[in-house]
Amino acid sequence: MMEKSFVMMKPDAVQRRLMGQVLCRFEEKGLQIVAAKLMHIGEDLAKEHYGEHSEKPFFGGLVEYITSSAVLAMVIQGDNCISLIRKMVGATNPKEADLGTIRGDFALDMGRNIIHASDSPQSAKREIALFFDETEIVEYEMPDTNLIYEL
Ligand code: RTP
Ligand code: MG
Repeated sequence: MMEKSFVMMKPDAVQRRLMGQVLCRFEEKGLQIVAAKLMHIGEDLAKEHYGEHSEKPFFGGLVEYITSSAVLAMVIQGDNCISLIRKMVGATNPKEADLGTIRGDFALDMGRNIIHASDSPQSAKREIALFFDETEIVEYEMPDTNLIYEL
């Protein structure tokens, strides 16, 4: 099923100049970037985005980290892409993330794990709406669709 996921490169990814390399993995896989926005998110948006963790001991540090500098917010589209992107991102703790995953290859610490990706269709819907207006999501043809998908 065609899905859209919310993906965000965190401040460490942006500041470490890893955006291109990480984006490259999604493009190489055949996924389609349908929205992208470099932004510095405020405390309110950060707290709303990570609302499910508000009672956790790491919440304060997480909000501080995510609001510390620029992030690259994106919507990525593809067949079954929500679970696929989670697989490409790897385990939350980069020490446990498999090599070959984004966190496994580029990060070392749980609190500096470089990327966020929606964990379910419901989260994707909520997070996309939180970060993007509908008009910011761009529908465009991929001329090589029949080389990526057996239609
Ligand atoms: P994300 O939401 O950022 O994609 O990460 P995730 O689904 O893999 O992990 P989640 O459980 O949603 O946690 C959100 C972020 O909080 C930080 N965290 N720290 N110290 C800790 O025990 C701990 N647990 C989570 C991580 O930065 C994680 O990405
Ligand atoms: Mg999460």
